[in-house]
Amino acid sequence: MCGIIGYTGPLQARDVVLQGLRQLEYRGYDSAGMALLTDDGDFYLRKKVGQVSALEAVCEPGIPSHCGIGHTRWATHGGVTDANAHPHAVGKVILLHNGIIENYHTISRQFGFEGLATSETDTEVAAQLIDYYYGQTQDPYEAIRKAIHIIDGSYAFCILFTDIPGTIYAIRNVSPLVAATSDQGSFIASDVTALIPYTKRYFAVPEQHILTITEDAIRVETMEGEIIHPDMLEVTWDVEAAQKGGYPHFMLKEIHEQPEVFRKTVTPRLRDGLPNFDAEGIPDSIFEECKSIQVIACGTAMYAGMVGRAIIEMQLRIPVTVSIASEFRYDTPLIDESTLVIVVSQSGETIDTLAALRLAKECGAKVLSIVNVKGSTIARESDYVLYTHAGPEIAVASTKAYMVQLSVFYLIAARMMLVRGKNQEEVRAFISNLTAAADMIENALEQEETLRKQAEKMAFSKDAFYIGRGLDYAFSLEGALKLKEISYIHAEAYAAGELKHGTIALIEPGVPVIALATQDKIFNKTISNIREVKARGAYVILITKQGASVSDEVCDIHLEIPVEDDRFTVFPCAVLWQLLAYYTAYVKGFDMDKPRNLAKSVTVE
Ligand code: F6R
Repeated sequence: MCGIIGYTGPLQARDVVLQGLRQLEYRGYDSAGMALLTDDGDFYLRKKVGQVSALEAVCEPGIPSHCGIGHTRWATHGGVTDANAHPHAVGKVILLHNGIIENYHTISRQFGFEGLATSETDTEVAAQLIDYYYGQTQDPYEAIRKAIHIIDGSYAFCILFTDIPGTIYAIRNVSPLVAATSDQGSFIASDVTALIPYTKRYFAVPEQHILTITEDAIRVETMEGEIIHPDMLEVTWDVEAAQKGGYPHFMLKEIHEQPEVFRKTVTPRLRDGLPNFDAEGIPDSIFEECKSIQVIACGTAMYAGMVGRAIIEMQLRIPVTVSIASEFRYDTPLIDESTLVIVVSQSGETIDTLAALRLAKECGAKVLSIVNVKGSTIARESDYVLYTHAGPEIAVASTKAYMVQLSVFYLIAARMMLVRGKNQEEVRAFISNLTAAADMIENALEQEETLRKQAEKMAFSKDAFYIGRGLDYAFSLEGALKLKEISYIHAEAYAAGELKHGTIALIEPGVPVIALATQDKIFNKTISNIREVKARGAYVILITKQGASVSDEVCDIHLEIPVEDDRFTVFPCAVLWQLLAYYTAYVKGFDMDKPRNLAKSVTVE
C-alpha cells in the first residue's frame, strides 16, 4: 500500500520517478506526487489527486534534476486531496511515507506543531519532527535518529534535505523498501518492480537502519552508527514480466499465465514423481512431528488456505485451522511447538500476516511460509519458505498467485502423505493428478468466450451467490471475492445446504447463482439445493465435472470441466470464475487492474 520510489544519479530524476511510480501504481492510486532537488540548488514539488498520469500532466519534462522521490498514495489519514498527497515539505525537509504513525497526535501536541500543518495526514508530523531536530543538530542522520526514537507505528520514509544535494535518506519499520546501486545511479523503492528496468541486483532494506543514498553508493547504518552490508538478492524475471505483453489488462494476462506458473511451481519440486523439498532445506520432521496445522493469511491467500485445509484434513486426518491474520494477531492462539504454522502471502509484506507470523513464533511454533516475492519480510522471518513461482502479480485482484498457492498446498499434502507413511504409489497417483491440473487449467481457458457471454448477462445484477458443498464450498469463497472486488456486485459464497437457513430469502428472479457441483459424494445433495434456488427464479450457472448427468431445468448454463478426481477440480474452476469476474468488470467498464478503494500489498493494519 502506497508506492515509494527514490532516485539519485546521472539520469533525469523526473523521468525515473515517473517511470517508477507507473510500476508501483498498483500499490495505491488515490494521488501521486514527486519532489526533485534541482541542479540549481532549489527544489521542485508537485502532487495531484488521481493516478500517476495526472501527476505526469503537471510535471513538465526537462526539469534539471538528478535526485528525487515520488509517491503513489492509498489514503489512510486524511481524504483524497492534493494537500494530503505526498511528499510533504516542512522547513528544509521533504518527506514521503508508507505506513501509519500511531502517535502523530501526541507528537503534534507535545512539540507544538498543532495548527501548523498544511495537511490532515499523520505523515506531515514526521516531516515536522525531523525538521525540528535538523534545525537543532544540522545533522541529517542525528535528526532522523532522534525523530525515529519518538515515532511509533509502521513506516517507510524517504527524506530529502533541501540543503543537501544529490542525497536521499531512508528508514523503515515494517513497511517494505528495497534498494540498489547500478551504473545508472542509486534507487530505493517499495518493491523491486520499480528497479528492474535498471538493475536485477538489489537488497531488502533492514528495519531500523538509516540509509544514505548517493549517486554511486548506499550507506546502511544501524541506529548506533555501525555500517552494515545487507545480503544482495537477484530478481529472476525480466522487465517484460511486469508489462502487459499485448493483453488489455494485467489481470487477463495473469489469468492466462496460470498453466505456465503452475508448472514452474510444481515441476522443480518433483523427483521420480514424488514431492521433494530438499532443495529448499525443509526437513521432513516438521511434517512428521506436528500434531496440528494452523494456516494464517488474508483475503485470497486465506481462501487458498481453506482449500489447503480441506485437502490436508482429507488426506492426512490432521486437524487444520485457518485463521484470518488480522484476527489471529490479537487472539490468544491455541498453538505451541507441536503446531506447524503455514503462513500464506503473495507479497510477503501484508502487515497483519507478518504480525501473526511473529506471534506464532513467540508461541514456539515452526513457521513454513508460502510466499511469492523473494526476500520479502515474511519470507525472511519464516523458519522455512516454499516460494511460489508466479512472477510479478500486478493486477490488484489476485489470480495466478492463488493458483500457485493452491498447488503448493497440494505439494505439502503429498509430502506429508509420504513422510507419514502412505504408500509411494498412492502419493505418485496424487502427484500425477496434480501435474495434470496444468492441462485442465489450459482447457478452462478455452471457455473464455462462454464466460464473456455469461458476464454480459450478469453484469448489472445487484447480487450474486456462489454455492457448493465440501471442497466446492472452499473454492467458491474465492469466486465470490473475485467478483465483488472488481465488478462491485455484492457477491457471497454459501455452503449450499446452509442457504435455506436464511440467505435463500435473497434469491429473487434473475439473481445469478454460480453453483459448483464437482464432488461426487455430495453431487445429488448440491443439485437439490440448486433446484431450490432455481425454483425461486435464480439464473444458475452450473459447474460440474465432464459427463455429470444434469437435467436441463436445473440450470441456465452448464459448464463442464474435464477432471476425473474430485480433489483436483479447484484448478480449472478457479479459471472459470476469474474469467467471469474479469469480463463482468469489463462489461461494466471498470478498471479491473485497479479496483476502487483497494491496493496491492496491504502494509497498513
Ligand atoms: C484479493 C487479494 C487480496 C490478497 C490479500 C493478501 O484479490 O489479492 O485479498 O490476497 O490482501 O495479500 P498477500 O497475499 O500479499 O498477503
